[in-house]
Amino acid sequence: MSGSLGTGKSAALTFDLKARCSTSKARASTLQLPHGPVELPIFMPVATQASLKGLTPEQLEDTTCRLCLNNTYHLGLKPGQEVLDAIGGAHKLQGWNHNILTDSGGLVLLINSCNTPDFFRSFQMVSLLKLAKITEEGVRFLSPHDGSPMLLTPEHSISLQNSIGSDVLMQLDDVIQTTSPDAARMREAMYRSIRWLDRCIAAHKKPDTQNLFCIIQGGLDLDMRRECCIEMVKRDTPGIAVGGLSGGEAKADFCKVVDTCTGLLPELKPRYVMGIGYPEDIVVAVALGADMFDCVWPTRTARFGNAITKGGVLNLKHARYAEDFGPVEEGCKCTICRPRGENGGLGVSRAYIHHLAAKETVGAHLLTMHNVHWMLDLMRRVRDAIREDRYPDFARQFFKDYFPDKG
Ligand code: GUN
Ligand code: ZN
Repeated sequence: MSGSLGTGKSAALTFDLKARCSTSKARASTLQLPHGPVELPIFMPVATQASLKGLTPEQLEDTTCRLCLNNTYHLGLKPGQEVLDAIGGAHKLQGWNHNILTDSGGLVLLINSCNTPDFFRSFQMVSLLKLAKITEEGVRFLSPHDGSPMLLTPEHSISLQNSIGSDVLMQLDDVIQTTSPDAARMREAMYRSIRWLDRCIAAHKKPDTQNLFCIIQGGLDLDMRRECCIEMVKRDTPGIAVGGLSGGEAKADFCKVVDTCTGLLPELKPRYVMGIGYPEDIVVAVALGADMFDCVWPTRTARFGNAITKGGVLNLKHARYAEDFGPVEEGCKCTICRPRGENGGLGVSRAYIHHLAAKETVGAHLLTMHNVHWMLDLMRRVRDAIREDRYPDFARQFFKDYFPDKG
C-alpha cells in the first residue's frame, strides 16, 4: 500500500493515513515513532516492570512486537530515576531498541478503572488503593515497598517519563470508574485531567524526541466526553487517548463513548483506547475509528494456562489436552507453534503446555509468546482487511470463529 490519504506531523512522530473502510470508521495507518515505524491498528503488550513477564527482549521481538508498554510508576520506584538517568533510559535498561509507551503511573486510577478480581490479584495493590488520595496537587499514596508517603504529581510523572525516554508518554489523569454514580466527582476528574494536561505540557522537557498524549475522561456521560474532547484537542498533543474504559461498563456504553470521542478527534492523529485487550473489544473499537490498544489480559491469561486461538480461548490445563500432541494452534507462525527445525521453531505441543501448566513457569512463558504473537497477528489481519476494504466481513467472520457456540 503506497498511497497516502493524508499525513499528520508532530515534532517526534508522523501519522500517515493509508486506508479507510468505506462502511465503518476503521482506518489503517503508519505511525513513525522515534524507534521505528509501527502499523496501526496495533495492540501493545504490557511489560509493566520493563519486562514482559517471562520473556527476554529477544523473545518479545520474535512475537513481532515493535511497541510495548511500560509503567512509569513501577519504573520510578524500581530501578528509580537516578538509575534510569545513569543508564540513559528504559530502552537501554531492558535492551529494547524498539518503541516504548509509558502509562503515567496514576496506577491507583488504573486500579479504580479495572474491577475484575484477578486484576487486583495480579497487581496485589488493593491496600495501596485504600491508602491513595487524589487532590489537585496529585496522587498521594504509601509506597508498597516500605510504606513511606509518596506524591505523584503531573510534573513528577512527566519528569520520570522523560528519564525513561519513552517514545510515547501519557499525561497524568484522574480516572473514576465509569460505573460510578457520582456525576459531580466524574466532572471534577474530567476538568482536573484537563488542568493536569496543561501542567504535563509545561513540564515536558523533550517534546522533540518524546510524544505526549492527552487522555480523554468523562465516564459514560457523552456530553462530558464531548466537552473533554474539545478541550483536549485544543491542546494539540501529537496523539490522543480515550481513558476510563475497561471498567466493566456495558459493551453498548463502551461503544457509545468510543464512537462519540473518535467523531470529535482530528483524523490525522493516532487514537489510543486505553486498557482494552479482549480481541472482540478491539475488533469493535477498530470499526469505531480507534488505532491503538493495550491490556495485560493476553499475557496474564497465559499464566493461567489459557491459549488464545481463532476458535476462542482454550484452557490447556484441562485434562482433555493431556494427550493432545498438536501445536497450540494449527498453522500459527509463532515461535512455539512453528515445527521444530522451521526457522528456530520450538514445535511445542498442547500436551507439553498442559504438563508444565501445573507448576513449571516455562509453560507460562511459552504460552505468553503464543498469545502475544496471536494478538499481533490479529492486528495484522485487521489491517489487511481494512486495506482491502472488507473490514465488516472480517469482523463478522471473526465473531463467528471466536464464539463458535453463539451460532
Ligand atoms: N489504563 C486504562 N485506562 C486508563 C486511564 O483512563 N488512564 C490511564 N492513565 N491509564 C489507563
Ligand atoms: Zn502459536
